[in-house]
Amino acid sequence: MQTLHLKVDPNKPNPRIIEIAATLIREGETVAFPTETVYGVGSNGLDEKAVQRVFAAKGRSMKNPLLMHVMSWDQASALVDNIADEVLWLVKKFWPGPLTLVAASNDSVPKLVTAGLPTVGLRMPDHRVALDLIKAAGVPVAATSANLSGRPSPTSAEHVKNDLNGRIAGIVNAGTTGWGIESTILDVTRKPFTILRPGAVSRERLEEVVPGLIKAASPKPRRGIKARTPHYRPNARIIPVKTGEPMLDLVQAEVSRGMRVGIVAVTKQQMPAYLDFAVLINGGSAEYGRRLFEIFRTADLRGIDCLFMELPEETGLGVAVADRIYEAARS
Ligand code: TXA
Ligand code: MG
Repeated sequence: MQTLHLKVDPNKPNPRIIEIAATLIREGETVAFPTETVYGVGSNGLDEKAVQRVFAAKGRSMKNPLLMHVMSWDQASALVDNIADEVLWLVKKFWPGPLTLVAASNDSVPKLVTAGLPTVGLRMPDHRVALDLIKAAGVPVAATSANLSGRPSPTSAEHVKNDLNGRIAGIVNAGTTGWGIESTILDVTRKPFTILRPGAVSRERLEEVVPGLIKAASPKPRRGIKARTPHYRPNARIIPVKTGEPMLDLVQAEVSRGMRVGIVAVTKQQMPAYLDFAVLINGGSAEYGRRLFEIFRTADLRGIDCLFMELPEETGLGVAVADRIYEAARS
């Protein structure tokens, strides 16, 4: 398949170019587009055949549901039942934005989108290009991060191209994404609402809107347990390191075994000159989140075997960043 490359201004996308992408969606094809978190790839969420193409392009298991991307709460609420009042407070505060709500789906949602689950994930991206595209398409867009299954999420159209060129009908390129880390997924089917995946909206910010109603993600089995579906898996072996934990002996041991080794640090430290890859994150968890997936991809391109990653402080956005590092370290 020939992939159409379309370039737009992120803040003022040319409506004629958006219309080309929207036409592809209406025709049942797959299109990658930017959001404020990472690039997504999606198709007409009401058309089973079109949805099927998203799974095929990514090589994604059909047991793993997609998210319905919408341009308004009205469009979202047509897909779900039994919405608690507090959900509307969250929508008012965080939409459009990186908070995905998992709610009871109704019959209008194809079973393939939800992988047969009784719930559907609703997401209204805070990105002009995504919103214009969904609006022009006139349908909710069933989408997922625009990476090949098991690869890091893409934060630029270049990443999307590397993974999906020739596998999807189009890529709308509007430069790099904002957060760099995916949306927070919140199950609102029952109270307390449960964070299924920490993301760009921190638990603390949710708590401010619905105090006492947010339950944190259950701590994941961190090591040794096989993940249900592997996520964020760079070629390099990822070794999470807590701040202050001695690491240089381990680094040296890997180097002397002939491994190509890198370090990502959040606290200023002496980077040994023999490293093949060294990154210092100066700007806290926001910068870590923005750069994380790019770092994974760069490490792969440089043939890094082993990447030591200092963990951010696990509060606010740091929870999501640490989650992705642990996720990459499993598998
Ligand atoms: O920021 C984001 O959320 C990006 C952009 C593109 O919107 N999307 C994204 O999609 O990260 P994806 O498919 O890579 O991750 C969505 C996660 C998957 O782990 C999926 O299993 C889970 O959400 N999910 C989807 N529907 C669900 C549901 N009904 N119940 C529980 N988990 C669900
Ligand atoms: Mg993904």
